[in-house]
Amino acid sequence: MGMGLPSFLWGVATSAYQVEGAPDNDWTEWEGLERLKVRGTRCGRGSGHLERWRSDFGLLPTLGVNAYRYSLERSRLEPKPGEFCEDALAVERERAATLLRLGIEPCVTLNHYTHPRWFWERGGWEDPGCIEGFRRFTEAAADALGPRVKLWVTLNEPVVLLLGGYLGGEIPPGKRGFRAAARAFEHMLRAHVEAAAAIRERVPDAQIGIAHNMLEFAPERAGHILDRRLARVADRLYNTALLEAIATGDLAWSFPGEGRMRARIPELPAANDYVGVNYYSRVHIRFRGRRGAIGEYAYRDPNGRGLTDTGWEVHAHGFDVVLRKAALVGKPVLVTENGIATGDDRRRCDFLREHLAVLAHRRAAGTPITGYFYWSLLDNFEWLEGFRPRFGLFEVDYSTFARRRRPSADVFAAMGRWFTGEGAAGEPFAASRT
Ligand code: FCB
Repeated sequence: MGMGLPSFLWGVATSAYQVEGAPDNDWTEWEGLERLKVRGTRCGRGSGHLERWRSDFGLLPTLGVNAYRYSLERSRLEPKPGEFCEDALAVERERAATLLRLGIEPCVTLNHYTHPRWFWERGGWEDPGCIEGFRRFTEAAADALGPRVKLWVTLNEPVVLLLGGYLGGEIPPGKRGFRAAARAFEHMLRAHVEAAAAIRERVPDAQIGIAHNMLEFAPERAGHILDRRLARVADRLYNTALLEAIATGDLAWSFPGEGRMRARIPELPAANDYVGVNYYSRVHIRFRGRRGAIGEYAYRDPNGRGLTDTGWEVHAHGFDVVLRKAALVGKPVLVTENGIATGDDRRRCDFLREHLAVLAHRRAAGTPITGYFYWSLLDNFEWLEGFRPRFGLFEVDYSTFARRRRPSADVFAAMGRWFTGEGAAGEPFAASRT
């Protein structure tokens, strides 16, 4: 990738709130609300990582990783607007230094869904002041972590945040309005541009990008013309609009029945060194044609393999579809997340083999893929689903916070040796499942 970075990044990913909670941010407040799917579940201390990050980092070399993606919790680092907490910054400095000592590249995400409460009191992503604010936060982070941290993700899944937070009302700030979502989208991308500039001043050889959640969209009824059309519309609004904005600087976003917007952000292409892809599943789209609900989406299980514990389809071919789409931007593609929630670890082994075979094939076909992060190192708090879904290569016992290595960790490590060129020749993807 960039100078001094491993030629193929091989890692696992987490986010701060999901593994360590936070005393006071938007999610702590949101969890108290009645409308949550898992009522009464609180993230609390997450997987207890704040107290255990040193020993958790000690698990990383056993996975053979050369990179680790994690996020900064802004509510800890900037508890009041423009006021930074020295102790929290010191912890981040120590974490990055520890990773580097282990020979592991830190990949730092600046915004992974959570926000300080004051952020929303000031108008959140709708307030143009959020752009300068995000720059200020990034400057503090890059002052603390640059020039040694070279890999940066500014925003995790902006489109998911916008659809869930501004149109679906399911996550903070819990709004339902296209105009607010459109304003927020433009501001988020402008904030990305500012953050990238702040990082580059401090880390000239930084690699900066956005982690974009991508899905494959299929028509529910293959021969139904309106299902097919709607699947294309969904693909545009969910996958392609952001990719095009990164490629050209032109953001054109529309939601059927809700509205449309355009914005020109000429600095955006140069502010992205790679395209980050988070891939999990495929969804099926069905046309309804009702006011306020033109269509609906659902996860299906056409092959009878069973959905995952988050109710998603395991569909490795979709990984290929989204990787090819992301590559059209003309920049290197970095898989910033891919994973499965399951209590049956054999399914995780199969998932890894199938998805990594696709990745290897894509790479061999010439798509510039620069790395892969499995979600997640540890079981953790899954937003609206609580602690039930198990994504970890390490299992967490939530009554003691003890960690236990799952067999899939060995499969992952073996694949890593192959991807990073440290293993023997031959592809390790053959399924061993009975
Ligand atoms: C992604 C999120 C990540 C995690 C996984 C399962 O969309 O970025 O935080 O919740 O899904």
